[in-house]
Amino acid sequence: MSTPTEVGEREDRLARVVPDAIAAIHEVLERHKVTEDEWHAVLGYLTAVGKADEFVLLSDVTRTSVLIDALSHGAGESATPSNVEGPLYRLDPPWREAPVKLYEEYEGVEEGEVLFLRGRVTSSDGTPLPDAVLDVWQTGPSGGYDIWDERQPDYNFRGRFGVAASGAYEFQTMIPNPYTVPTVGPVGQYLEAVGQHAWRPAHIHFKVSADGHQPLVTMVFFAGDPYLENDTIGAVKESLVLSLERHEDDTEVRERGLKAPFFTCDFDIRLRPRGG
Ligand SMILES: [Fe+2]
Repeated sequence: MSTPTEVGEREDRLARVVPDAIAAIHEVLERHKVTEDEWHAVLGYLTAVGKADEFVLLSDVTRTSVLIDALSHGAGESATPSNVEGPLYRLDPPWREAPVKLYEEYEGVEEGEVLFLRGRVTSSDGTPLPDAVLDVWQTGPSGGYDIWDERQPDYNFRGRFGVAASGAYEFQTMIPNPYTVPTVGPVGQYLEAVGQHAWRPAHIHFKVSADGHQPLVTMVFFAGDPYLENDTIGAVKESLVLSLERHEDDTEVRERGLKAPFFTCDFDIRLRPRGG
């Protein structure tokens, strides 16, 4: 339930922002002399976006989500930068115990390469946060997210887990690959109409929370990805681009219980204290 103060603040914001937004739209309509038919097409298009549940995706590909992320979180030097959540998060992902493995074996898994992603969760001053919880989601090495890839078990490459007393975490996953955002719906029509490709660089999404700290939503990318400079949602931040290290020593591979070389990658996460 909203408090009377919150309701008052919301009404205040609406009273300031909405007339400006309408005036900006009217200005564009006048400047381009938009016709009745064209305006009806716009309204029909937005209706289709709503019916397809693609407003978040539309916000992403028009780079509006990136703008709102920048306006909301700004650039703090000491905390890990935030990033957009995107439309592919699923509520209530499974809790995974250590040693955390983010996926179950399935037909097609051999197409990928194993990655151990690890780091420490600390406050922005470096104090470990032993009660931190990570919530991670990503595409498989092929076929995209679990909801698109019928070979994958439900909630594959998704999960929540805790950290050690030192704030350290590690999880086993597979290196994701670049993928295209969905193109069969109204957002796909938009991309085609404006000549924008649908590719995103490979990435892994994170939500991280800890007591007394602002929750962080972010995502990491990998050096050398062909779409780093050209992400269709424009979300790449340099400090979120990680380096992969390949391990091919037989003993190391065996110790990990694997049969093929694997990769590691380090990502330390610093959360901003509440009110900080
Ligand atoms: Fe994604």
